[in-house]
Parts: sequence; C-alpha cells; structure tokens
Amino acid sequence: MPLELVQGDIAAQDVCAVVTAANRELAGGGGVDGVIHRAAGPELLRAIREIGGTPTGTAVITPAFGLSARGVRHVIHAVGPIWRGGTQDEPELLAGAYRRSLELAAQAGCRSVAFPAISTGVYGYPLPSAAEVTLRTITAFLADHPDLHVRVVLFDAGTLNVFRRAWQRLEA
Ligand code: AR6
Repeated sequence: MPLELVQGDIAAQDVCAVVTAANRELAGGGGVDGVIHRAAGPELLRAIREIGGTPTGTAVITPAFGLSARGVRHVIHAVGPIWRGGTQDEPELLAGAYRRSLELAAQAGCRSVAFPAISTGVYGYPLPSAAEVTLRTITAFLADHPDLHVRVVLFDAGTLNVFRRAWQRLEA
C-alpha cells in the first residue's frame, strides 16, 4: 500500500525522510518539532538556523543527524498554516506544505517518507478538514510517483479515526 495511516510517534519511524511541523522562522518549537529536535540533536537546530526561514506552505530539507541511527536520512521541515477561520487560503497552504515535502523527498531519492498531521496541533487546523486536504494531496502526488511509500503517523487513536473516516469519504 503506497499510503498508510498508523498511530504512533513520528520520531520512531524507520523511513528515509521524516517530516516535522515547523514554523516559517525555522526557529524550532514544541509538539512534533520538539520531539524531532530532541531525537535528532542540536545539529538539526543549527542546520535550520543556517537556512533562516521558509514561507508558509513550503518546506526545506536537512540531514537527519541523530535520527540517522534509525536509518532516517533526511528531516523535512514543513510549514503549515495557522488556522484563521478558513478564509486565508489555509487549504492551499496546507496542501503546499505536503506537496513541497513530497517533492523534496522524491528529489532526495527517498522511497519512504513519514508525516505528522501538520497544522492540527498548536496551529489549530480543524482535524476533519486537515485530514481531507492531507490525504487528497498525498494521493494526487502518489499517482505520479508510484514508487514512493507515504506513512501518516497520528499521535492518538481519535486522530487516527478521523483520518480513516476522511479516507473512506475520499474513496466513496
Ligand atoms: N508523533 C506524531 N504526532 C504528534 C507527536 C508525535 N510524537 N506529538 C504531537 N503530535 P504540532 P502544528 C501531533 O503542534 O499544529 C511547533 O512549535 C499533534 O497531536 O506539533 O503544525 C512548530 O515549531 C498534532 O495533531 O504542529 C510550530 O511553531 C500534530 O502532531 C508549530 O508548533 C501537529 O501538532 C506548528 O504547529
């Protein structure tokens, strides 16, 4: 299956590229980003500070540093939108963050990539809408990149269920 939904910890995935939910300043943060930075070590923060920033709806790629012990080669820092009621192009920006991350993973020669549910934590994107945009964007990309394997890693059972229901709606 080129796309799988699992419950788990994004920092514990044995994939070529792990995506983190970053901010556009690339300043490091809490949530998923905190977990990834703790696992990868301080070199990761130095690497993104050197890049300096990236607009909302885009992503940048760095080495995986300490995460390479798990076989991870790259960390992709994706910047999703802050939810502002849905009137500020949030769906396009969220789709852009996923699409750019997928492009970077493919360009790096990766066959596997793991995503968290970008923007659904402190950025407040409503979960069912985020799930739909996420799955639509990934499946559209996979149609042109059948060799890529994408794992979406949801932190708890409730979030996993929301994503499963969104997937069922898309397939109906
Ligand atoms: N593994 C997988 N998913 C997780 C994990 C984990 N270990 N921990 C939390 N989640 P967030 P955002 C889920 O807030 O909304 C940072 O400070 C969590 O339940 O990490 O895009 C950045 O630097 C939620 O569903 O990302 C930015 O400033 C999802 O991951 C800002 O937060 C994303 O939550 C980005 O906010």
